[in-house]
Amino acid sequence: MIERLLLGTVADKPHIVLKDAHGKLLFEECFTRRGFDSSYTIVYHSHAPMPDEGYAPTQRGWPKPAATEASHARRLFHAEKTTRTGKALDARTVLLTNAQIDIGVVRPTEDDDAYLANNDGDDVYFLLHGSAECETPFGTLSLKQHDYLWIPRSLPHRFLRVEKDAHWLHLEMKRGMHLPRQYLNELGQLKMDAPYSHRDFRRPTWLPKSTDKATVVIKRDGRFWERKTAAPLLDVVGLDGFVYPLVFPIHRFQPKTGLVHLPPTIHATFAGEGALVCSFVPRLTDTHPNAIPCPYPHSSVDCDEMIFYCSGNFTSRRGVGPGAISLHPAGVPHGPHPGAYEASIGTKSTEELAVMVDTFLPLHPTQEALAVEQADYHGTWK
Ligand SMILES: [Fe+2]
Repeated sequence: MIERLLLGTVADKPHIVLKDAHGKLLFEECFTRRGFDSSYTIVYHSHAPMPDEGYAPTQRGWPKPAATEASHARRLFHAEKTTRTGKALDARTVLLTNAQIDIGVVRPTEDDDAYLANNDGDDVYFLLHGSAECETPFGTLSLKQHDYLWIPRSLPHRFLRVEKDAHWLHLEMKRGMHLPRQYLNELGQLKMDAPYSHRDFRRPTWLPKSTDKATVVIKRDGRFWERKTAAPLLDVVGLDGFVYPLVFPIHRFQPKTGLVHLPPTIHATFAGEGALVCSFVPRLTDTHPNAIPCPYPHSSVDCDEMIFYCSGNFTSRRGVGPGAISLHPAGVPHGPHPGAYEASIGTKSTEELAVMVDTFLPLHPTQEALAVEQADYHGTWK
């Protein structure tokens, strides 16, 4: 979704005849975003993609988030203690929700037997622990620890070769996602001062093939339907377009260091309507002799802030470990824990690794979040 991808065999021009080596007509599918007004990919199938052998509501998937009141306190959720496991399709726990984003974790313990096609948003996965392979009709991608995986809305995908103890952050970006506009020139090319380049993203390089029919679980408005395809799902012989799965390894993000502490916007990685995804990676700290490298206390009065802690000594917070999720709501000042601000003076680098999401609508903890909440977190600034 950052540049055109051309894989396999395509026709000389869209919407004209293309046949396989045996003279059989191939079927086009135009996979489009924002109606027919935004990016799209044209794929060529060996079979018509429409016929089903079955289509019915299913109990597969995960519970529709049961939102509680939006938070007016600083909260900490031990996402590493959630208990929904099994196949990745079913092993998700939504912890924070609003009309524009769901934030949760996936803790798969088995390979998927079905594909998820999430019509409710773009799916973003961040692998804290546990490698895997993501298979889609638009290509297969190998995933390693600390990779982001970006699956465009409704693209069927499943996870195979899931490593033991997998623990992934999952964002459902309900209004889609894109790269921050300020990183792109007028032609859509990443500018030279962007924090990543086109070479930092991994795109599909081959199309998986299978003659097997497939089960696709479609999510729409929080409900799940199970579709048994009448033809193989993995029958794509070629694709051409801007919509496809994409991997970005977080350690390819190039952080900026200033004379003094720079605001979190320099960590912006992905943007969606009402949500900004930021990557905090190990980096050198500020160069002014009297700089205070630790984040200053702040009141970002229009944003709720979620942080998913990954590794390193997170400079500003104590008592949070890998996999924990903090929520600092708009309207409540937040900042370093007592002692961290002063202790950071003179430090030259930080090893922290974390993913942050700022949202403009209030984030509502779910009932499942309350089950893993650390009750005394708000008061830990005393
Ligand atoms: Fe903050």
